[in-house]
Amino acid sequence: MIVKKVAQFWATFSFLTPSKCSGGPILAPTSEETMKAAITAIGGYVPEYVLTNDELATMVDTNDEWITTRTGIKERRILKPEEGMGASYLAIKAVEAMKEEYGVTVDDVDLVILASVTPDMPVAITSAYIAQEIGATNAYAFDLQAACSSFLYAVSNAAAYIESGKYKKVLVVGSDVMSSIVDYTDRTTCILFGDGCGVALMEPNEEGLGVQDEILRTDASGRDFLRIEAGGSFLPPSHETIDNKQHAIRQEGQSVFRFAVSRMADTSAELLEKNGLTGEDVAYLVPHQANLRIIDATARRMELTKEKVVVNIQKYGNTTSATIPLGMWDYRDKFKKGDNIFFAAFGGGFTWGAMWVKWAIDKK
Ligand code: UT7
Repeated sequence: MIVKKVAQFWATFSFLTPSKCSGGPILAPTSEETMKAAITAIGGYVPEYVLTNDELATMVDTNDEWITTRTGIKERRILKPEEGMGASYLAIKAVEAMKEEYGVTVDDVDLVILASVTPDMPVAITSAYIAQEIGATNAYAFDLQAACSSFLYAVSNAAAYIESGKYKKVLVVGSDVMSSIVDYTDRTTCILFGDGCGVALMEPNEEGLGVQDEILRTDASGRDFLRIEAGGSFLPPSHETIDNKQHAIRQEGQSVFRFAVSRMADTSAELLEKNGLTGEDVAYLVPHQANLRIIDATARRMELTKEKVVVNIQKYGNTTSATIPLGMWDYRDKFKKGDNIFFAAFGGGFTWGAMWVKWAIDKK
């Protein structure tokens, strides 16, 4: 009998799906369907110590000319113990910068997502510590690791949570202390990486601004080309792994380069096409900063002029999860409300993707 009555109800109101009705009275479908997840404030921080190409040349067999022409990097920042420790230190500094710049509150944040390959420690989660230290004591938090695509994946997660209505104020943190996993006797990797952090506050937006679309991908054929071999459940730490320096990041540069160029560029172009856009519609591309030649290839594929491409690799090198938010932070005065901003990333795994965001911050 009850089953029959319920069936009759749904037959009468067949234009409403059960999900739209959950939680009580009938909801107007329009506002839910136009709800987007927008970036409403950003922050950034890099440590004080500047490690130049010339200083690296005193440590390994390299030189400024090789590093500059092959990568575009001139210097990078390094977190020294005398300044602070861990990805959380950088995150707390970046949140302070965001509060100062935008006057936002963060004690009411209900979700903190940390994108990082270098959390403070493997267990306990660093995001919970960040939430506590910024006063977001009611927040739920988790760490997310997708190599150099971590920030992109984290923004995608945050957007899904906000669009679903489950969480309303999400702090996405991209923070990495790459100097903690770099072997400073290996010239093929130690010249590439630096430390830094960028943060983005994300909230619902009813004007249709915020995350519009994305394409995210993975391919495990990249597993052998870019990785830290030891320290996980495959090869737990031992005296031998330490002696063999298997806790440092290693990559086959050329293989990763080829894959990165084709995947990051193709996916960015695919996202444009999928949405009926061209390079002319894009205000800025904020690409992962691994190599200036990879950035240039992506910009060419999207048919973007040079001034539309965010580049700060010369100052910071590859800060992994922090490259995209630090790019936004550095160019924040140029972005205007309503601008079409594209993100593109590529990293170990392999992981990669592109995202289209309509800028929601109205900078006075
Ligand atoms: O963010 C995650 C994703 N990572 C990436 O996207 C990185 C992708 N890969 C790259 O950016 C580039 O492959 C590198 C910048 C890592 C290397 O540039 P490359 O043009 O691919 O150089 P290569 O590895 O082919 O090395 C060329 C030469 C070699 O010498 P020989 O064999 O030709 O005599 C290297 O030993 O350069 C040598 N070399 C160096 N020389 C001076 C390698 N590293 C250095 C160095 N200084 N630091």
